[in-house]
Amino acid sequence: MTTPARRASWLHSEITRHNEAYFINDAPLVPDADYDALVRELRELEGLHPELVNESSVTAKVGAPTSNVFQEVTHAEPMLSLDNAFDVEEVRDWTERVAKGLGTELSDVDFTVEPKVDGLALSILYVDGHLTQAATRGDGRVGEDVTDNVRTIRDIPALLPGASRGRIEVRGEVLLAKEDFAELNRRQRELAAKEFANPRNAAAGSLRQKDSRVTAQRPLSFLAYQLLDLDRTFNLATQSAVLAQLSSWGFYTASETIVQHGVEAMLSRSDWFLAHRHDLRYEIDGVVLKVDRFDYQVTLGFTSRAPRWAIARKFPPEERSTRLLSIEVSIGRTGRATPYAVLEPVLIAGSTVALATLHNQDQVALKDVRPGDLVTVRKAGDVIPEVVGAVIETGRRRHARWNFPTKCPECGEPLERVDDQSDTYCVNRGCPAQLLQQIVHFVSREALDVEGFGEQRVAQLLDERLVNDVADLFTLRVEDLTPLEGLGELSATSLVQALEGAKSQPLSRVLVGLGIRHVGPVAARELARAHGSYHALSQASLEELESIAGVGPVIAQSVYQYCREPETRERMARLQDAGVQLTEPSDATLTEQTLAGRAVVVTGSIDGYSRDGAEAAIIDRGGSSPGSVSKKTFCLVIGDAPGASKVNKAKELGIPAIPASEFEQLLASGTWSGDEATNIR
Ligand code: IVH
Repeated sequence: MTTPARRASWLHSEITRHNEAYFINDAPLVPDADYDALVRELRELEGLHPELVNESSVTAKVGAPTSNVFQEVTHAEPMLSLDNAFDVEEVRDWTERVAKGLGTELSDVDFTVEPKVDGLALSILYVDGHLTQAATRGDGRVGEDVTDNVRTIRDIPALLPGASRGRIEVRGEVLLAKEDFAELNRRQRELAAKEFANPRNAAAGSLRQKDSRVTAQRPLSFLAYQLLDLDRTFNLATQSAVLAQLSSWGFYTASETIVQHGVEAMLSRSDWFLAHRHDLRYEIDGVVLKVDRFDYQVTLGFTSRAPRWAIARKFPPEERSTRLLSIEVSIGRTGRATPYAVLEPVLIAGSTVALATLHNQDQVALKDVRPGDLVTVRKAGDVIPEVVGAVIETGRRRHARWNFPTKCPECGEPLERVDDQSDTYCVNRGCPAQLLQQIVHFVSREALDVEGFGEQRVAQLLDERLVNDVADLFTLRVEDLTPLEGLGELSATSLVQALEGAKSQPLSRVLVGLGIRHVGPVAARELARAHGSYHALSQASLEELESIAGVGPVIAQSVYQYCREPETRERMARLQDAGVQLTEPSDATLTEQTLAGRAVVVTGSIDGYSRDGAEAAIIDRGGSSPGSVSKKTFCLVIGDAPGASKVNKAKELGIPAIPASEFEQLLASGTWSGDEATNIR
């Protein structure tokens, strides 16, 4: 049986092993959330059994000792870590401790809410305004001298204008913006070099290079968040004043940081970051909440490893490890065979994940994940969950390599790879799995948008042989549907009505729905606009199709061929006979959906628009325009004589408020100048 002492000792050695992999080798073995769980368990165990705590416990340490590649630097003041809060309750508990420590009401406390960047902590010493030394955190007391490498980072000024006296240390995080990370990995692939697991590792690996010429080629950024005024030259009283000072020296600081008065405002701003985490240019794993006033910070002080005046609110993890039960292959509407992982269900970023994509044959081979492996699974935002890779477990026997099937799992016909692509296809046109997905796509929101048709319903129609092609949908009658399980008279009637309504959808949506290879919504719209009707489009020559803006030779060839297939001719004739319009209305009625799914609230009047007109313009572009501001609001547009309550509410919830002069740009692009969430630098 495992005793607490044995468990603690195991946890201790596991955490030490992970620390070394993460801090020294820049190559973590497990997702951060798994590591956090180990530390948390050890802390709890130590809390219940104080006799297990000793000075060398990993829970008392920050980071890891330095490697021997770099000179050692003893920090002027230790670089501590932060305590974590994993939910709102734990944040509230912290605020209670703050109030108690200060002997004040919480309503009197201002907080800054800063993004918690997932990078590598760095401390830069400036003497009389000159960059003199830069060091990593190391174990918090002694770090590594990376001065030469840091001099190559463009975001870090070599000279601070107006700081020509005394010593200061600027602390912050070295990071790689998501876009730069993708570019770096693209370059690694070209060089046949190993790709980095995530931006944090890539940043760490890039900074801790022996040769600063290598660092210089990496697109590193630096986000500054702390200033140590070692000779007391500056008279800064708050964290927000520090951020403003750093920014005026040319450092990049998180421009979304706003001082929040009281706990509720602070929490709602941190929720704003949670909602917008994927809009930021770099990855964050939470927010850092800090008591703004320095005199308060001094009163609160530090524990041995972290300040009491700050806490990191960790967001739900987007990566977890779980057991891979099996690998299956699904067939899409174009016949593409996609391998996917069946997983032991795991909670990631707030939802349970039991299936995750493995993309294609090459990816499975590259990742070499095998049934039975412990794997890392990632689910970020709206992106479909994917298997990142296998977690190496020492001493565990693995199953044999998984081989991609040679036959379609649905119809048994051969699977083939097309040209030099990584994708594999079932080339049997009559494959039932393809037909199911084609119909599901045809009625989906981005195509004909027929409400009430899910995959299950379509499968039922196929099983009952009520449909065999998309054109059959329009021949369905209420009496055909009522015998189906789960469909009463009422829902059968509304299904038939929904299909009736779909007949007047513009041609561009029908083209999307047909699933012609390479034709997405943009090309479909260009094709439909250029020719006005399916009849005209189907008569167009290859040259005519190619000459349409946004339609290259690949799309033109695909459309040309599609229109000439006998099956297509039959299908289109049947759609026409059923009353499907197959024409594109004039340009005026087709507006780009720049605000799709977004709630834009308007207050006050906007030049050139009536109230209804402004609302209609938003709705035309796929958005909604509710009458009040809530957490779900995308932005508030402030016109002449705005309502104070909406403005205050937006401020309180941290919703961006934009002037009416930006309304046109918002309609045209879905963004505005100074849109800090998307334009963070
Ligand atoms: S303040 C006394 N602010 O997260 C410690 N840290 O997990 C002061 N981090 O050690 C740190 N973003 O490396 C601070 N806005 C931010 C941060 C931040 C990321 C890092 C930092 C810290 C670690 C704790």
